[in-house]
Amino acid sequence: MSLCTVGHVHRFVVGLALLLAIAGCGPGTPSDPLAARGQEVFARCVACHAADRPLTKVGPHLVGVFGRTAGSLDGFPYSDALMASGLVWDDATLAAFLHNPRELVPGNRMAFVGLRDDADIDAVIAYLRAVSDPAE
Ligand code: HEC
Repeated sequence: MSLCTVGHVHRFVVGLALLLAIAGCGPGTPSDPLAARGQEVFARCVACHAADRPLTKVGPHLVGVFGRTAGSLDGFPYSDALMASGLVWDDATLAAFLHNPRELVPGNRMAFVGLRDDADIDAVIAYLRAVSDPAE
């Protein structure tokens, strides 16, 4: 075996290790199983919301959403209804909103019917805590 071949094998092994690291435990895959399940639920939100970076989409980004007054992100064109709601986002208000956005805040502009399954709501809140509020 020439030195050259050894070099190739070495590069292959390093490459494989990198690939496994990216696939297995790259950033953005929460280690908490509930949060990991919540990431799957968040697939229903991700077209409109970013949670792990301050990116505005159709909806406001959800970085630092815990403790945020509803409708208070600078520069996002919220509905009057959401801004006037007086809600502060925590586990309880998020759960009520995500269960039925229109019932909790009539006239808000989030075009989403709601999550009917409480387990989905718990999971997506755990996911939001894991990615949007890593300090907690
Ligand atoms: C079709 C797009 C869309 C989908 C899907 C959607 N949202 Fe929204 N969301 C919005 C919009 C638009 C607003 C702002 C509503 C307003 O101003 O009345 C909003 C507002 C919010 C707020 C309030 C944020 C703030 O700054 O006060 C939270 C929290 C939220 N969404 C979470 C979620 C979660 C979690 C999901 C998935 C379960 C989801 N949304 C699905 C569009 C969407």
